[in-house]
Formats: sequence, structure tokens, C-alpha cells
Amino acid sequence: MENNIRIEAREFNAYYDKKCALKDINFKIFSNKITAIIGPSGCGKSTFLRSLNRMNDLIENFNVKGELLIDNENIYDKDVDVIFLRKRVGMVFQKPNPFPKSIFGNIAYGLRIHKMFKNYDDLYMKVENSLKEAALWDEVKDDLNKSAFDLSGGQQQRLCIARAIVINPEIILMDEPTSSLDPTSTAKIEELIRKLKEHYTIVIVTHNMQQAARVSDYSAFFMQGELIEYDETTKIFTAPSNKLTEEYITGRFG
Ligand SMILES: Nc1ncnc2c1ncn2[C@@H]1O[C@H](COP(=O)(O)OP(=O)(O)OP(=O)(O)O)[C@@H](O)[C@H]1O
Ligand SMILES: [Mg+2]
Repeated sequence: MENNIRIEAREFNAYYDKKCALKDINFKIFSNKITAIIGPSGCGKSTFLRSLNRMNDLIENFNVKGELLIDNENIYDKDVDVIFLRKRVGMVFQKPNPFPKSIFGNIAYGLRIHKMFKNYDDLYMKVENSLKEAALWDEVKDDLNKSAFDLSGGQQQRLCIARAIVINPEIILMDEPTSSLDPTSTAKIEELIRKLKEHYTIVIVTHNMQQAARVSDYSAFFMQGELIEYDETTKIFTAPSNKLTEEYITGRFG
């Protein structure tokens, strides 16, 4: 299958005040692939991820230069509808962050604010389907009215994934989604991520090299705000072109 470009950075720079956090990034991310972003702490991984749904807009003194395109549209153009952008580009964070609502209420929330259901039966069906897609349904189907906080950490993270997918995003960003989870929950989430790429384009930040190697199709190595190397994951992990990449993945720094 030919690769379709879903996201493209062109000479993209990001600054916090005068501090440059991303420098001249040129980067093409493909549709229905899993792209891992790796690199030492502070290299700009989260900044890049949060630039993709303009979450950084909320930070005072954050600004950008260059272009960041999704489906060939620069998402930093003046007339971009940021609410709609964030609906298209969902996000899952390091720590599960369910709303203080029931399990059902967490998933129904986005459907309600975007008015994405016809009647209660339709709402229920969409909640059920997203929980099934997130591999959580069997564990929660009898407890939909229980608080989301009663779930385990791994279940809460799958709930957050269900909450992200229920409003039909095109892209899902994940910033270290398993770093607070035990190995069993991590394995479940990784399996889920691999399944999700059938319908979504996934960009995942991880500090876990085995995880990047296990789940991703492409890997991008960032260092000090620069994209050092980007290639198929198998290539990055078996025969990286850049010495810095090799040193990082073999654990010599970072
Ligand atoms: N809100 C902020 N205000 C000012 N500087 C920031 C802010 N957020 C990040 N930075 C700076 O931008 C650079 C990149 O940070 P970023 O959070 O993107 O790194 P990261 O690769 O995600 O690191 P980690 O692996 O530790 O999560 C760092 O030097 C950081 O100090
Ligand atoms: Mg980060």
C-alpha cells in the first residue's frame, strides 16, 4: 500500500518566549501508520505533539514559525477552527485523566458537546462501540454508571482512549500513554494501538525503546529540538544512519 501523507511539518519552529524548542522540523507522517517519537528528555517531543492540535496555544508566549499541515492545510492559518481541529486530532496523556463522571458519562460527553447522536439508543450504541473498540467493554458493561475513578489505571487509560475515539478523530496523539501502567496494562494498550491504526493515524511519544520497536511503523529521533533521523522503525532500530540515533537507542545517553 502506498503511503499517504497525513501530517507534514515544513521548516516548523516552536518557541517558548525566545527559547527555541523545535528547530526547522521537516517531517512527513503517514496515514494509518503508527509513528513513534523518541529522544531524550526536553528534546521537544511533547512540544511537537501538542503543536499538532494547537494545545500549546494555551501557553502564554508560545509561538511558531513555518508550516504544520494536516491534509495539506496549515493548521496555524488564521481562519482555522481550533475546536474542529481538536475534534479531528484527539489526544491521550501520560496519566489517565478521566472526567469526574460515570464511565458512561465520560464517553457520552464528547458526543453531547458535538451533538453527535440522534436519540438515547444511538448515544448508548456509540458509547458501547467505542468501549468495545478500546477493548474495555467486557470489563465495564455492568458498571457503566460507576465513577470512572473506580477503574484501575490501565482501565482508565483505555477509557481515555475510548473517549478520544468516540468523536471520530482522524489522528490520535499519545504522549507516553503507558508510562504509568503495569506490564499487563501496557501490553493491552499496545495491542489496542496496533489495532487502532486501521482507522486512525497515530503519533506516540515513548521513552520505552522496546515499545517503539514493538508498536510503531516509523520512528523519529529528536534531539535538542531537531529531528535527527526519521525512517522505518526496523531501520532505525537495526541500522540507524546517524551516530546520535545509534547512541541513543543503545542507551549510551538520554
Ligand atoms: N510551558 C513551557 N514553558 C517554557 N518552556 C517550556 C514549556 N514546555 C516545555 N518547555 C521547554 O521546551 C523544551 C522541550 O520540552 P518538551 O516538553 O517538548 O520536551 P519532551 O521531549 O517532551 O521531554 P520529556 O521527555 O521530559 O517529556 C524543553 O527545554 C522545555 O524546558
Ligand atoms: Mg514530554
